[in-house]
Amino acid sequence: MAPQIDTSSYWTDNTPAPKFSALKEDIAVDVLVVGAGITGVTAAYLLKRAGLSVALVERHRCVEGETAYTTAHLSVVTDTRLKDLVKKFGRDHAQAVWDAGYAAIEMIDRLVWNEQIKCQFQWVPGYLFDPATETEERAALELKEEAELATELGFDAEFVKCCPVFHRPGIRFENQAKFHPRKYLLALLRLIPGKGSYVFESTNVEEIHGSPITAMTDKGHRIHCGHVLVATHVPLQGKSSVIPATLLQSKLAPYTSYALGGWVQRGTVPEALFWDTRDAYDYLRVDRRHDHDYVIFGGEDHKTGQVEHTTDCFARLQQRLKKLLPEISITHRWSGQVIETNDGLPFIGETSEGQFVATGFSGNGMTFGTLSAMMFVDYVTGVANPWKDLFDPGRTKVLGGAWDYLKENADYPYYMVRDRFVSVGGKSVRAIARGTGEVIEVEGQPAAVYRGLDSKISVRSAVCTHMGCYVHWNDAERTWDCPCHGSRFKTNGDVMAGPAEAPLAPIEKKKSKVVG
Ligand code: FES
Repeated sequence: MAPQIDTSSYWTDNTPAPKFSALKEDIAVDVLVVGAGITGVTAAYLLKRAGLSVALVERHRCVEGETAYTTAHLSVVTDTRLKDLVKKFGRDHAQAVWDAGYAAIEMIDRLVWNEQIKCQFQWVPGYLFDPATETEERAALELKEEAELATELGFDAEFVKCCPVFHRPGIRFENQAKFHPRKYLLALLRLIPGKGSYVFESTNVEEIHGSPITAMTDKGHRIHCGHVLVATHVPLQGKSSVIPATLLQSKLAPYTSYALGGWVQRGTVPEALFWDTRDAYDYLRVDRRHDHDYVIFGGEDHKTGQVEHTTDCFARLQQRLKKLLPEISITHRWSGQVIETNDGLPFIGETSEGQFVATGFSGNGMTFGTLSAMMFVDYVTGVANPWKDLFDPGRTKVLGGAWDYLKENADYPYYMVRDRFVSVGGKSVRAIARGTGEVIEVEGQPAAVYRGLDSKISVRSAVCTHMGCYVHWNDAERTWDCPCHGSRFKTNGDVMAGPAEAPLAPIEKKKSKVVG
């Protein structure tokens, strides 16, 4: 008899969630967050950490909706190709979209470390590959051009003739990531209640009235607040139609995506993300566990409700997975919903005074969900956000105007550390000419490497000891200069000029980035 296949998501295995009661009285908080998936939980956690009181309200159970049915790829690479983003929105905006993804993944990395969350977070490469054979030459050319464009815009991408596992031409993107979404979010969730903040389950927000905002639940209780985030995957319609959900709905299209999971021998598939270039593409990743690897393979996307025999989707997917990995033992199958938008970008922003919506993540829910939480916190706390106009639900500004967003947002924390993701490139120390310096990767870390005229090598961390930007080599002065606030360092890392006070640190022996 064939083994029984579990139809719940793999992420719900052995991840018991805390239970929260329903709202039973009227309350007042600074911020109301409706929906406890990745957007809502991250936002509520960040708001509480920022000193605000927050109520996180979930209709069913927390972290059990679409967030539990993801395949948890953390990628900055959008489904809309970079060349198409450039065509539609211009180069600056296209770069800003991917930058936003990096800012989100970097935030996850930071929270994992800060809270010591055991959720298998790991930076890994991502491979976009051409699955077909007939159009190989043209496909390879297009992939080469896409890789070159990504490099021009400051991203670490390289055309490869043969991707691992699929053995097809593709692009290798550095610095994508993966994690266990439920382990990560349940850890954040546990930190939300207390000191005036709450989590409520089995509580349905039915109406939201404006200024000052009052939300009404299905049981007739009121939540008074200054701001509200609607993080319900598909925006709430709401009896009062305060949120212009209908207008937004017309720009959204729900798709169903299917996933299979199964065990393979450890090391069969490298730790990376894979996805192909087709419209309705296949995607694959592993979750490394003890002595085996768990492979998650997804695809077969179609418009929700437009395919009659959905079991056929699983059957086709299984056929392809078995062909790729004949020895796999499939244990789970599940499906999730992806919300696509009319122009390929998510809608994240204010819909009316004090009210904010986040939806349309187009297959990149973990990344854009986290980004939405960050943008909402900036909105509530009055911090200018670099991506506000770009993802605005009404977005009219971005289509026309030129926008030097790098210059305008240089003070935003992400841009102060952006170089961490884009300029190290994995070059060898040997490639550095005498009498020059370069920032390259050493022991997996960005290093300021100087080769003296006598060929002696000095290797220091490239992270400025003031606030963490990367130093740049100044060829004329033979110094390491920090672009953020102007600190300068000698070739051996000693401080020449502040505000930094400590020398560039030595490079430490490589440590694994995996926690748990
Ligand atoms: Fe380098 Fe401030 S981060 S000078």
